[in-house]
Amino acid sequence: MSRILTRRSVLRLSAAGTGLFVAGRYFTGTTFAAPPPLEQQDTYTIGFAQTDLNNPWRIAESKSMQDEAAARGYTLVETNANEDTAKQIADVKSLIAQGVDILIFPPRESQALAPVVMEAKAAGIPVILIDRDVDHSIAAPGEDYVTFIGSDFIDQGRRAAEWLAEATGGEARIIQLEGTTGADPAIDRQQGFEDYLAGMVQGSPTPDGPIAGMEIIASQTGNFTRDQGREVMQTLLQANPDVTAVYAHNDEMAIGAIAALQEAGRAPGEDVTLVSIDGSNAALDAIVDGTLGATVESSPFFGPIAFATMDQYIAGEEIPDWVKVEDRFFDESNAAEFQGTQY
Ligand code: AHR
Repeated sequence: MSRILTRRSVLRLSAAGTGLFVAGRYFTGTTFAAPPPLEQQDTYTIGFAQTDLNNPWRIAESKSMQDEAAARGYTLVETNANEDTAKQIADVKSLIAQGVDILIFPPRESQALAPVVMEAKAAGIPVILIDRDVDHSIAAPGEDYVTFIGSDFIDQGRRAAEWLAEATGGEARIIQLEGTTGADPAIDRQQGFEDYLAGMVQGSPTPDGPIAGMEIIASQTGNFTRDQGREVMQTLLQANPDVTAVYAHNDEMAIGAIAALQEAGRAPGEDVTLVSIDGSNAALDAIVDGTLGATVESSPFFGPIAFATMDQYIAGEEIPDWVKVEDRFFDESNAAEFQGTQY
């Protein structure tokens, strides 16, 4: 790292309270109005704090970041929080202390991780959030961090609900398997789905109004994992044997729920209709074998878009607060075509 006083060094000194004046849009007198800049360098060290590596989606996301860093000859410093929010906070703090050039990571929980985004800013390290966002009342994109790159989770929930309404003729007793409590995909996928059943889309009433025949009879977190999806489904099934549909916030929990239903002598795909989110290979296989009805894509392949966005930031280009990832939809009409192409 250069010994001369770079703009980032100046920002660091200012953040430490030396009272140095920094001209331009980065410092407004009491607070920085934009994320710290990133200078043109031959190579970069990127801090990548992963939430866990316990499912195919996370493994694919990490591999995508590793492949892109390797292709560019950049150094990726990786950590694994192993599904522990406190550990991810500590990991980000450690990456800040190591002085990485930039942080690119998925915050496990939206409120809990927002303060370390502010700490990175104070340390002069820009942050790009991928896949999950933080609470904007604590840290704001374009001001405190560069941007959020990811899917529209509310719309994913809406699309799952729309498909389920069509598939069941608007009559369903639904068990919802929620993702990790406090994670924005869990919060938003629940909202998008429940709003649609209540006759609302993105805050506006739908022409047809609420779908009276569709009722969520139980809803509990399965923490985005196959094992917990299976265990929670076993428990909820005993209390709700009249279930006719399952909405899982990700494919892994849906696969776990299918196993629980089969163990209980039920016929997923026949007497219970399932819909989920992600678009994994296992989900495409389950659609082809008839046990899963449909899955809304949520891509884990963030490497190319994350690094391209970093390039734009270095070049001083305007970055939108949200770089939206467009998602496909897989059901019996196209699952076979894409089998084996995902992760
Ligand atoms: O944040 C995205 C979600 O996290 C994926 O849908 C899920 O599979 C993962 O654990």
